Amino acid sequence: MIFTVAIDGPAAAGKGTIARAVAARFGFAHLDTGLLYRAVGALGGDPVLAARGLVPDDLAREDLRSLAAGQAASRVAVIPEVRAALTDFQRRFARAEGGAVLDGRDIGTVICPEAEVKLYVTASAQVRAHRRWLELGGDAAQVLAEVVERDKRDSERATAPLKPAADALVLDTSDMGIEQAVARAIATVEERLKA
Ligand code: CDP
Ligand code: CDP
Repeated sequence: MIFTVAIDGPAAAGKGTIARAVAARFGFAHLDTGLLYRAVGALGGDPVLAARGLVPDDLAREDLRSLAAGQAASRVAVIPEVRAALTDFQRRFARAEGGAVLDGRDIGTVICPEAEVKLYVTASAQVRAHRRWLELGGDAAQVLAEVVERDKRDSERATAPLKPAADALVLDTSDMGIEQAVARAIATVEERLKA
C-alpha cells in the first residue's frame, strides 16, 4: 500500500509527536524532515554541497535539537538548491511501499501534494515557545524571540514557504493536550484509510 501522511506547521507545534504516534499506530515509516535541514546547517561549509552529500550518520549528530541548530537550519532552508538536493529522497520515502508519515514545512504543498492525509498543526507562538522552553530550558524570552524569528523566515521565503496546503486539515493545538491532538490525527487517518 502507498499512503502518505503529510504533517506541516510552525516550530514546536507538536508535528513530531503526532507523526511518531500516527506512524506507531498504523505501522508506517516516519521521517522528521527538519532533521535534514538541521544536519545541513550543522555541517557548515557550503550548504549546497552538504545537502548533496548528506549521509545517514549526519542525522545522528549531537545537538541537532538546540535552538541554534534550528536557526542554522532555517537559514540554509531558504536556499533553493539545498531544498532541491533533498527533494528526491523525501519523495521516495513518502511513496515507499507500506505507508509513510513525513513532518516538516512543505510536505503537503511541495514534497507530496498527492498525500492521502494532510495535517497543518499549529498553536499560538506563546504556547509553542513555552513547550520548546520546557524541552530546552534557557531564557524564556529568547526562546520566544527565536521561535517567532524562525517562523517569519520560514513563512516569508520565496521557495516552499510555510503555509497550509489548500486541502489540509488545520489542527490548532493551543488549547489541546497532546493526547487529544494525536486522537484527532489518528481518527483522520483511519477515516481516509476506510474511504
Ligand atoms: O515537531 P514539532 O517541533 O512541531 O513539535 P514536537 O517536538 O512534537 O513538540 C514540542 C513539545 O511540545 C514536545 O515536548 C511535546 O510533548 C509538546 N507538546 C505539547 O505539550 N502539547 C501538544 N499538543 C503538542 C506538543
Ligand atoms: O522541530 P521544529 O519545528 O522546531 O523544527 P524542524 O522541523 O526541525 O525544522 C527546522 C527548520 O528546518 C525549520 O525552521 C525550517 O526552516 C526547515 N525546514 C524546512 O524548510 N522544510 C522542512 N520540510 C522541514 C524543516
